[in-house]
Amino acid sequence: MTASHAQLSHPLRSQRLNQLTHQPHDRLEALVKSHEPFASRENFARFVTAQYLFQYDLQNLYNDPRLAQLVDDLPARCRVEAARLDLVDFGVPLPEGDESIRGRTLGVGAALAWIFVSEGSKLGAEFLFKKAAALQLDETFGARHLAEPAGGRAQGWKRFVKVLDGIELDAEQEREAEAAAIEAFERFAVHLERCFA
Ligand code: HEM
Repeated sequence: MTASHAQLSHPLRSQRLNQLTHQPHDRLEALVKSHEPFASRENFARFVTAQYLFQYDLQNLYNDPRLAQLVDDLPARCRVEAARLDLVDFGVPLPEGDESIRGRTLGVGAALAWIFVSEGSKLGAEFLFKKAAALQLDETFGARHLAEPAGGRAQGWKRFVKVLDGIELDAEQEREAEAAAIEAFERFAVHLERCFA
């Protein structure tokens, strides 16, 4: 589905980003499923490795004081530590992340767009968490990073979106945010391909 002009000019930034990333999301969802992450614990551990690398990319943004002023529990929302512990559960060595995303200085709009993708992925994670139960994985072993966040998925998402929709960006910053959201989806796909290679 191609986002129509009306959708892309929706007054809410979160809705515009939703529409803009509809196709990248569908592609990524299909890519995840094509690797059958729930076929075995070994496959699932590869998926967790990709999740770890993505959270590693985002770790500095989640801890950025400029952003924590806007979203008070932002540092606690990062799942790099949960994914690390999941990998420890599987006895899988930590992959070495690179600094190509972490090392950047992003404007607030682009930074929040990266976090938008990570926070949004917690919604789909509800389904993935349920499927992980078939592998006897849960919030205490192997699937911590998919577990429901404190305060609930929907509430955490709503609070984040309110901030995202409330900040003022100029046209240039708006474009940077849109590009960042798309890049974040592409980055996750790169991690997946690496981890299932
Ligand atoms: C790295 C980013 C993301 C990944 C890897 C990801 C992955 C997935 C996967 C694999 C599913 C299918 C779950 C299942 O049915 O078994 C899913 C569903 C879903 N995702 Fe994402 N997602 C990401 C980002 C987002 C974002 C940014 C949003 C919202 C803005 C979002 C919202 C949803 C919702 C609501 C579902 C539920 C089913 C649906 O409506 O399609 N996801 N996601």
